[in-house]
Amino acid sequence: MDKNKPSRMYFIGKKEDFDQAKRMIVTLDGRDILIIYHQRTFYAMDLQCYHAGSSLELGDIEEINKKLCIVCPKHKYKITLAEGEGLYKAANPAEKLSTPQWFSKGIKQRVHKVMEVDEDIFVTLSNCPGWVESDYYQTEKGRAELRKAQESKDGDEDANADEDV
Ligand code: FES
Repeated sequence: MDKNKPSRMYFIGKKEDFDQAKRMIVTLDGRDILIIYHQRTFYAMDLQCYHAGSSLELGDIEEINKKLCIVCPKHKYKITLAEGEGLYKAANPAEKLSTPQWFSKGIKQRVHKVMEVDEDIFVTLSNCPGWVESDYYQTEKGRAELRKAQESKDGDEDANADEDV
């Protein structure tokens, strides 16, 4: 993200739009963003999962270590809604009876700011400097990779449909 570029607030809809839908995908300044309304709080993050670019739109929400996380539908990676932190569970291999615990991988998914003003919902894109892994899928190279994966998947589905005939 360009930290020298002034942040702009984008109007994305009315609060009532989220009463039913709870989630919305918007493209702001060329960036695909997932907006989530959960337990009366709004969250916004990059739509494509930092791990391999799958859409987070249908990810379940779970509480882990007192933090709300979205669970990527593809490989079940956990990402905190508020910070974009990747969480993983592990046991200490040096201790035979150690109980697995949750650890942080650090910020992996770029999150954005959501503001509510008189029932209008606005998003301001993050301009935190530095590279966040989910940024990759917002680049031309990342998008080309996603298109290629989708085409390959579509090809496989067509081939399977032919076999079913
Ligand atoms: S693409 Fe999200 S966990 Fe792999």
